[in-house]
Amino acid sequence: MATVHNATIKRVTDKPRNPKNTANSQELEFINQFKTQIATGREVEPILVKKGNNTKFYLPIVTNAMCLQCHGSPGKELETITLAKIKQLYPLDMATGYSENEVRGIWSINFNN
Ligand code: HEC
Repeated sequence: MATVHNATIKRVTDKPRNPKNTANSQELEFINQFKTQIATGREVEPILVKKGNNTKFYLPIVTNAMCLQCHGSPGKELETITLAKIKQLYPLDMATGYSENEVRGIWSINFNN
């Protein structure tokens, strides 16, 4: 990794908690591809896009039971006290209502060599 210059790593989503993590249109397209793959039980492969000296790498971030404490359904996995704190810190939060094994977002990694 030390030889990799100008790398940026982002964690983005279609349903942001922090608006700074909103996916762009290209990232949204890949999120939808990953959703379809997972919904149909297919093996999920990272996506690699190379253009000249630029390489982009996309990897899904999938929910498990632990995530639902903060991203699950209010009043169920997501306790009222937790939700209140989230709403206070992230008034625009959209990142609740998830179940296990759903695409919560993606890692969007950009290398310029
Ligand atoms: C203790 C609470 C908590 C748990 C548990 C948790 N998250 Fe989050 N998650 C947050 C908060 C708070 C943010 C907003 C972070 C920020 O400001 O960038 C966030 C943001 C995210 C984001 C970035 C996109 C966005 O909405 O801002 C992803 C992706 C994400 N979480 C996935 C997961 C996954 C997958 C798990 C389980 C493996 C998980 N989280 C577990 C609280 C939690």
